[in-house]
Amino acid sequence: MPHSAPPHRTERLDQDHDGIRRAARLLRQGGLVAFGTETVYGLGGLATSLKTVEHIFRAKGRPSFNPLISHFASAEAAFAEADMAIPLHDMAWELARRFWPGPLTLILPRRTGSRLCEAVTAGLDTLAVRVPKGRAVEELLRLTDQPVAAPSANRSGRVSPSTARHVLDELDGRIDAVLDTGPCPVGLESTVLDLTGSQPVLRRPGGVTLEELQETCGPVTVAGHDGTGGSISRPNAPGQLTSHYAPSLPVRLEATDLKPHEAFLTFGARQAEGASPALSLDLSPDGNLEEAARRLFAALRQLDHTAARHGLTGIAVAPLPENGLGRALRDRLERAAAPRPAEPAPPSA
Ligand code: TXA
Ligand code: MG
Repeated sequence: MPHSAPPHRTERLDQDHDGIRRAARLLRQGGLVAFGTETVYGLGGLATSLKTVEHIFRAKGRPSFNPLISHFASAEAAFAEADMAIPLHDMAWELARRFWPGPLTLILPRRTGSRLCEAVTAGLDTLAVRVPKGRAVEELLRLTDQPVAAPSANRSGRVSPSTARHVLDELDGRIDAVLDTGPCPVGLESTVLDLTGSQPVLRRPGGVTLEELQETCGPVTVAGHDGTGGSISRPNAPGQLTSHYAPSLPVRLEATDLKPHEAFLTFGARQAEGASPALSLDLSPDGNLEEAARRLFAALRQLDHTAARHGLTGIAVAPLPENGLGRALRDRLERAAAPRPAEPAPPSA
């Protein structure tokens, strides 16, 4: 079954010892297994197997130039794949000590002879590594005892999954199993920090905030969506695809009023003129950014589901704070609002 064409049926595994062992066995055989991490569900497969990694790209419909994060049970195992003779060597270890296991991904130079297959890193001479947090995923990685490549377990360009149900909605029949570890406690993907140069560069805001990174790193450069400052759809510094996290409905940001037939996504019990309570969804009535992060992706999916029933034309999003997790929330929403690949950009963009 693993290594073959897409399986007929996706097994749903409980996060008890048997379920985790079954998931590890499938992974070791080259199968595709989705599992919950503290951030979002990942679509996992052996990072050392070209066949498996190609299968991950196919199951997701992901362009092959967009590299994957490899997941490990420990910092030692992660750094063993990297060339650690770098100026930021000490910073890498300090970050690992403070934030791993946890929602931080580090970009490091790839070591000559690394076991990770080239397709994982899309042929780059750098790699992305992380040690995720969660009882089940930590046990799964220990039992698998191999690097596990895992992009978020959604179809490419769509909203990331924060429950096993979300995974099955898009990937049922395309992967071998999903290990149901319940809803993800952080709800947004890991922070991606590039340590390959002389200064740390934030490539994707996520579960670890910029403020937290600065406490450990001092100054951190913040990259734009293309890794520099502009906006492109085929990144040379990959992972920076602009349109992403997209629900079916168009998304409009910084909304303080509503257009006809728009649903309203709010934060901190903000009200808008004419908002129908049935079509309003507050990410956190108390204005708590952790709660908003946990709920964002499920909220976007929920609004998509109610859209057809209510004849909705779009999702208006109220302004969100710019500090702490607000940066990652705003990043995901900006990408959800970006012109879709098939759509022409507006003339002024
Ligand atoms: O929280 C997460 O990071 C989740 C869970 C499953 O671990 N994974 C995740 O993977 O979000 P994915 O594939 O959806 O996003 C990985 C990001 C992409 O933006 C990718 O381009 C970037 O990391 N990335 C991977 N390798 C890279 C590299 N060598 N240089 C720059 N960016 C890289
Ligand atoms: Mg993703």
